[in-house]
Amino acid sequence: MQSSSSPTGIGTKGHRPNSARVAGVAMLLFATCLLTARPAGAEATAPRERLLLDFGWKFHLGNDWGTGEDLGKAGSSRGPAGRSFSDASWRTVNLPHDWAVELPFDREADTSHGFKPVGPGFPTNSVGWYRRTFELPQEDAGKRLWLEFDGVFRDGRVFVNGYFVGHHESGYSSFRYDITDVANCGGRNVVAVRVDASQFEGWFYEGAGIYRHVWLVKTAPVAIAPDGVFVYSKFKDNLPQKPGALHIQARLKNTLTHAVSVAVTQIIYGPPGTIAGTNLFRKLERKVTVPPLSEIEITNVVKLRKYIALWSPESPRLYKLVTLVSGLSVGGPFDEVETAFGIRTVGFDPDKGFLLNGHPYELKGTCNHQDHAGVGAALPDRLQYFRIAKLKEMGDNAIRTSHNAPTPELLEACDHLGMLVMDENRLLGSDAANLARLADQIRRDRNHPSVVVWSIANEEGVQTSATGGRIAATMQNLVHQLDPSRRVTYAANVGDTFQGINGIIDVRGWNYHIGDDMDRYHQQHPTQPEVGTEQASTVCTRGIYANDRERGYVSAYDDNAPPWAHTTEVWWKFFAARLWLSGGFAWTGFDYRGEPTPYGWPCINSHFGILDTCGFPKDNFFYYQAWWGDQPMVHLLPHWNWPGQEGQDIDVRCFSNCDEVELFLNGQSLGRQTMPRNSHLRWKVKYAPGTLAAKGIKAGQVVAATQVETTGAPAAIRLTPDRATINADGEDISVITVAVTDTQGRVVPVANNLVNFELSGPGHILGVGNGDPSCHEPDIYLSKPPTRTVALDGWRMQLVPDTKDRPEVAENFRERNWRRVDVRAESGPLRPDESAVFRTRFVATAEDLAATNLVLHIGMIDDDGWVYVNGQLVGESHDWQSSPSFAIRKFLHAGDNTIAVAVKNNEGQGGLNKGASVEIQDKPVLADWKRSAFNGLAQVIVQAAREAGEIKLAARAADLTATTLTIQSQPHAARAAVP
Ligand code: GAL
Repeated sequence: MQSSSSPTGIGTKGHRPNSARVAGVAMLLFATCLLTARPAGAEATAPRERLLLDFGWKFHLGNDWGTGEDLGKAGSSRGPAGRSFSDASWRTVNLPHDWAVELPFDREADTSHGFKPVGPGFPTNSVGWYRRTFELPQEDAGKRLWLEFDGVFRDGRVFVNGYFVGHHESGYSSFRYDITDVANCGGRNVVAVRVDASQFEGWFYEGAGIYRHVWLVKTAPVAIAPDGVFVYSKFKDNLPQKPGALHIQARLKNTLTHAVSVAVTQIIYGPPGTIAGTNLFRKLERKVTVPPLSEIEITNVVKLRKYIALWSPESPRLYKLVTLVSGLSVGGPFDEVETAFGIRTVGFDPDKGFLLNGHPYELKGTCNHQDHAGVGAALPDRLQYFRIAKLKEMGDNAIRTSHNAPTPELLEACDHLGMLVMDENRLLGSDAANLARLADQIRRDRNHPSVVVWSIANEEGVQTSATGGRIAATMQNLVHQLDPSRRVTYAANVGDTFQGINGIIDVRGWNYHIGDDMDRYHQQHPTQPEVGTEQASTVCTRGIYANDRERGYVSAYDDNAPPWAHTTEVWWKFFAARLWLSGGFAWTGFDYRGEPTPYGWPCINSHFGILDTCGFPKDNFFYYQAWWGDQPMVHLLPHWNWPGQEGQDIDVRCFSNCDEVELFLNGQSLGRQTMPRNSHLRWKVKYAPGTLAAKGIKAGQVVAATQVETTGAPAAIRLTPDRATINADGEDISVITVAVTDTQGRVVPVANNLVNFELSGPGHILGVGNGDPSCHEPDIYLSKPPTRTVALDGWRMQLVPDTKDRPEVAENFRERNWRRVDVRAESGPLRPDESAVFRTRFVATAEDLAATNLVLHIGMIDDDGWVYVNGQLVGESHDWQSSPSFAIRKFLHAGDNTIAVAVKNNEGQGGLNKGASVEIQDKPVLADWKRSAFNGLAQVIVQAAREAGEIKLAARAADLTATTLTIQSQPHAARAAVP
């Protein structure tokens, strides 16, 4: 998909400021200009808008209405899928949203999914409904309107204005629907999404809900097709030093019933700050006629000569391609799309391994799931940047999006920060649905320079069969067809085996199996390049130095790996010694929920991470930093708080890339050792409290130093934000480290104090975490509004000839002589084709009216109903099974209020039945946020509101000095969003 602006502000554009007004003008022009000439003075702005549809959704957890689909008649979807359904009492949520992370842990739930009670066996927690209502201006009539979902976990059914618009099963691939025909321009629209997470797609925590962005896209009827721009570079011998060219494709879509002639202008801008960036780099013009109701593709080839700014992790320089489409015979701008891209070459060589820009470039990679402390799978965009920056800090230059298509913003972060990506598909399959998903993924992601290789699947049971090989070949051919610039791999967990997928794949992927198998395979298949798709699976817990089965902790010394896996040092030494292997990807960069190997309950998340779920580094982080990074460094473990163990031997280890390291205890040298390459040093040190220090020496000079100190008891809390100033755009976050310190401000590495948080100002806490793999404290505290319910009785009823404009619904109509009726009955009092008005009173106190929400609930309106409060229409119901509710606060006044319902019964018994009540929701009480520190640290993620100001986060804990952190939320334009 074309991307939108990124948190760095360098991103590509999919919308224009003030675009709603401009688009309206442009569209009116467009509609008339197709027949007439373009009037003078028309604004030269294309009508495309890309509006974020993340804010203000209503959410309900529960499978209360079936699928909502009506297979009999169009536009009559039922329950929340219907247009007239009231979601007044539903919770309001913003996207991205993951309801699984909000659920408590449950020992009966699936281990590999992190013991959250969702999925198979938990039907009541596995279906969620989302609804969003918005207005579309009249000017949108004539445009094409699209809903784009970056990812819904999973099995999403989408309805617009009661019409079913699509069903998308996979929880990982993006999808879009053209909703033009069913949209209501000049009025209210309602989107309903039923999400069904009853089935798993993976074997790790997957979240549940609309956990990525949703967009509303508006284009002219003749426009660039979705994901219709593709730009890639090609050089002689795949060497950027040799002659090369940019290949630029643009796909145009004409939804009109007549041909339209257009001019396509493509302008390339160089990266800012480079010679190419100082000028417009190149401008191309083409004229084409797009036949009616069809798509055509045009290709431009631009020779690349000099001043090319190459993209690489070290220098992630981005070019910008602007594609403009305008009418020829009728004039007027039709479309404008910006595409960020990079110029670089990638390849795999059977002897030299991975090649970047013509040079061997070792992949120092990590595999990662999309899962973070506090938020589950629903990562705000900024958190993607936070995580990529952490990985880069340890020298990581590549990630594998195991085992699924990534969120688009993760790729934007990788483009901007400089991180190579193995972009992985979820499931092996050459059936139509799988191939369509794969094609969409390639089209969506192929402009990203960060993406350097595609992976079609991981560890499939059929991998060595002939069938597996055929399926993989079909998938690989499709990828080649859509992207001639990259190779394809597959993550194979087999040894020296060439049958099946390995026999056909471009690049042999290795999951585990290091040793003789790899060397033999390389000898036997000397022309096939190879890569370590998944390695390590080393297990460790941050700040723990002895295995503890009961509490579910694994020592952070690099000593533990399950039988199929290896310690950090073992795998990397093996790969570092074999250039032809291209480097590899460690399992995993960050811990994730689920797969608590080597334990089960009470462990709820993995120990595989080099960083924990919050992004706090474990000791192995520093092994990688030593051998993957380029700065001299030295790191010591364990911590130096071992009261009661005075005089006993402590296993001290050191990671460093210096030639030698000298160790000191309380100022006394314990000797100097030479550091073996890709390894570590070890001392036995008799424990004495104080300072254990290490100096790293290179060419005789001390170039790095570190120390661990015995701290005092926990005394205070320190809050440190990753960014102290954030943008007041409703999306930006600050990731705050909570540290428990002693009186001297040193983090106490064994402190586990429970810390309470309170936030004031224009923001809210999004989630909390601490990286403890066995912690069952909530990551999210929902602020629930206290509610009271008042039953509505005293109903009277009068038969009426019809339900239109009834005087009987007026506030002061006298109903004293009407028949009394008990509306709590199972079925209503009306016979077929009878209509009636039902009336009662609701006495509202001043306290009731001060509540934030008053919702009228009616058990059943059978069949059609119009609901009035004090004579004003508050809503309608046309689905007898829907138990409608209506927000009525704004229609009420203090004292006696009239509630009237005009009901038309069509068949069987009908009327008003199954009870009626008013639910009074008071202001939500602020949730009491808290989290225990784990080995000295915890994390709070704070999100900005859309007003600027000071956000204050106060932290307090028993026996610790409290603290308050101020974060500045600065004025910042929010992304263009659906109001
Ligand atoms: C691999 C698998 C990963 C993860 C890992 C744990 O076989 O591909 O998803 O389960 O094992 O070691």
